[in-house]
Amino acid sequence: MQQGIRPKDYPVLFVDDEEMALISLSEQYEREFTIYTAKSGKEALETLQTHPEIAVIISDQRMPGMSGVEFLAQAKKALPEAVRMLLTAYTEMEMVIEAINKGSIYRYITKPYDVADLRCAMLQGIEHYDLVKERDRLYAEKIETLKRVSRTNRLTAIGTLAAGMAHEINNPMVAIYTFLQILPQKLQEPQLDKEFLEKFYTLSLQEAERIQTLIRKLLDFSKGGDQDALSLKEADINLILQEVVFLLKHEANKKNIELDLQLASDLPPTRIDSEKMRQVFLNLILNAIHATRSGKISLATSFHQDEQGQDSIRIAVVDTGVGISEENLEKLFNPFFTTKEAQGTGLGLMICHHIIDQHRGSIDVKSKPGKGTTMTVQIPIDPTRYERRKVERRGEP
Ligand SMILES: Nc1ncnc2c1ncn2[C@@H]1O[C@H](COP(=O)(O)OP(=O)(O)OP(=O)(O)O)[C@@H](O)[C@H]1O
Ligand SMILES: [Mg+2]
Repeated sequence: MQQGIRPKDYPVLFVDDEEMALISLSEQYEREFTIYTAKSGKEALETLQTHPEIAVIISDQRMPGMSGVEFLAQAKKALPEAVRMLLTAYTEMEMVIEAINKGSIYRYITKPYDVADLRCAMLQGIEHYDLVKERDRLYAEKIETLKRVSRTNRLTAIGTLAAGMAHEINNPMVAIYTFLQILPQKLQEPQLDKEFLEKFYTLSLQEAERIQTLIRKLLDFSKGGDQDALSLKEADINLILQEVVFLLKHEANKKNIELDLQLASDLPPTRIDSEKMRQVFLNLILNAIHATRSGKISLATSFHQDEQGQDSIRIAVVDTGVGISEENLEKLFNPFFTTKEAQGTGLGLMICHHIIDQHRGSIDVKSKPGKGTTMTVQIPIDPTRYERRKVERRGEP
């Protein structure tokens, strides 16, 4: 027996239609255990409702109305964590084996029972109950910790985003504000400085556009944070990639870059939000084009199945560009991280990550400075089914 376990703290319920049998069971064990009794399956189910703290249930098989196996199958639904045992004669073995295989009983005890053996079985049952409870408690604790961490991460991300936003809006605002401040005075001057006005006006307009782009991207990003916000439909990933390549061909040609498509022919239709996924590929390929002086960018799709039978699609964007330093790899998905100065907002990869996350997928980066970068996106072929399966797996013992 595990240390620290007091049998009295783990009530045992005996179920038997013979009153005398119940009385003798109680007398034999009530000094060491907390005993409840019930004269039928029906009565026992009521006892389980009023005493959900019951840890072990021991039922006789032969009872009028509801048999022991039938009762224990219902008890499993009513109080799944209680350990269920059956008292039975040797002649009923086939039915007992079936009940064990179905998981409705933990073990059986043959009749007539030995007092010491039954005591041992009860202690074993209590120990098993305690172990399962402890496992559930640890599991709940782990989930709670994960939730807390993700909450903290989210708050930190919002903080970073807000700080970045303030900075990114502030810079262009300085130019616009300065222009507006000096404008009345400039307009008063007898000789209108047209050149100055035009220069400042164009600059201010550009800066206002920059703020507008920033806000548009952030709004796109903030539209719905979960899977419900996706408009999932069966789509052909290969086709979407071909469309994106068509859009970016001109951009690639300008730099003498070849966009090489290596599309798997066995891809099953995939449930995705095509519009958002197009946005992901656009940014990944555009980033690759920006990073590459000339040469080839490969885009490859493939089908994968993991050990759990989970089907997914992998999309790799492989460039031979400048690569990413170790230090920058850490910051890659941070909002506003960019090495493109005025040409980039630094929101692209953060948005990609968010969209892939909504699809229950992942995005992996491998890069060697001077050699090139590989971005690999992996998404389940059906994010809704993926979610359900994850929960099912969690429910297993
Ligand atoms: N394939 C790549 N090769 C090298 N560097 C890359 C690559 N992809 C991303 N980067 C680096 O990551 C940074 C962030 O990329 P991200 O797409 O988030 O923003 P951006 O391209 O700078 O701006 P935008 O918001 O317009 O997309 C880039 O500025 C670049 O330094
Ligand atoms: Mg980008």
